[in-house]
Amino acid sequence: MKLKGKLILLTGASGGIGQAIARRLAAQGARLILVGRSTQQLNALARELHVLVNEGFVLQADITSRSGRDTIRTALLALQEPLDALINCAGVNLFGLLEDNDPEAIEQLINTNVTATILLTQLALPFLNKDSGRIVNIGSSFGGLGYPGFSAYCASKFALRGFSEALRRELSDSQIQVAHLAPRATNTNLNSDAVYAMNRELGTAMDEPEVVAAQVEFMLSAKRMHDRNIGWPERLFLRINSLFPRVIDNALRSQLPIIRRHAQPVSASATADNNISIHLS
Ligand SMILES: NC(=O)c1ccc[n+]([C@@H]2O[C@H](COP(=O)([O-])OP(=O)(O)OC[C@H]3O[C@@H](n4cnc5c(N)ncnc54)[C@H](OP(=O)(O)O)[C@@H]3O)[C@@H](O)[C@H]2O)c1
Repeated sequence: MKLKGKLILLTGASGGIGQAIARRLAAQGARLILVGRSTQQLNALARELHVLVNEGFVLQADITSRSGRDTIRTALLALQEPLDALINCAGVNLFGLLEDNDPEAIEQLINTNVTATILLTQLALPFLNKDSGRIVNIGSSFGGLGYPGFSAYCASKFALRGFSEALRRELSDSQIQVAHLAPRATNTNLNSDAVYAMNRELGTAMDEPEVVAAQVEFMLSAKRMHDRNIGWPERLFLRINSLFPRVIDNALRSQLPIIRRHAQPVSASATADNNISIHLS
C-alpha cells in the first residue's frame, strides 16, 4: 500500500513508539488521526507534523472509556471517508511480582491492552476501506514468551496476539488485512528505572522507538502484511519457547534471583516492558 494520502488512525500517538510511528508515516505523506490521553503531547506532535488539531485529526480520548471511544467514532463519522489503516499502539505495563501487583493496576492493564483494543477495533471495522483496509496491532515479544515479573502484561500481550490471529483468519475472505507486530524492549517511558537497571544487569539491549516505526512502515507498505517479531535473539527464543518451553523455563530459572531483586516494590509506579535476554547455557 502506498502511504501517501492514506488516512491512518493511530492510538498511543502521545507515547514513545506512537510518536515515532507518527513521524515516520507523516514523512511518507500519510494523513494521521492521532489518539492519546495527553493533550499536551498530542498537540505538540500535531504542531510538528502539521496535523489539523481542530478538524478531527487529534483526538484526546481514553480508549478504556465508552465516552473516549465515542469521541473516536464521532470523528470517524464526521470525516466521511474510509480509513486506510488502524494501528493499535496504546498500551500500559506493570512490572513486579504478581503477589505485589496492585489489583486495580492489573484491571487497568487488561482493560487497556485487551478489552479497549478489541472494542476499538470492532468500532473501527465498518470505517475501514473494504478494498484495502489494514489493522496493525502492536504486541510485544512478551506476547509469545512468558517472563517473570510481567505476568499480567504477558497475559495481555498473549491475548492480543490471539486476537490478531483470530481476526486475521475471520477476515481472510475479505480484502482487510490484520497483522501483529511484536517489538522487543524499546527505549520509552513504558520502562521504569527498575527495568532499565535489570536490563543492564542481564546484559539485554533496548531498541529505539524508530526501529519499531520502521517496521510499521514496512508492514503497511508491503502488498501483503505478515506478523513480525523484532530482534535477534528474541526470534530464536520465541521459537524455542514454542517448541521446547522447558529449555526456556530452565534458562529463566537461573535469572530469577536478579529479576526478583529488581521487581521489589520500591515504587507503585514501576511499570515497564522488557526485551528477552536469556542465557541458555
Ligand atoms: N517500550 C517497550 O519496551 C515496548 C516493548 C514491546 C511492546 N511495546 C508496546 O508498544 C506500545 C506503545 O508503548 P510505548 O513504549 O510507546 O509506551 P508509552 O511511551 O508509555 O506510550 C503508551 C501510549 O499508550 C497510550 N495509552 C495508555 N493508556 C491509554 C488509554 N487508556 N487511552 C488512550 N491511550 C492510552 C498513552 O497515552 P497517554 O500518554 O497520552 O496517556 C501513550 O500514548 C504498547 O502497546 C506497548 O505494550 C512497548
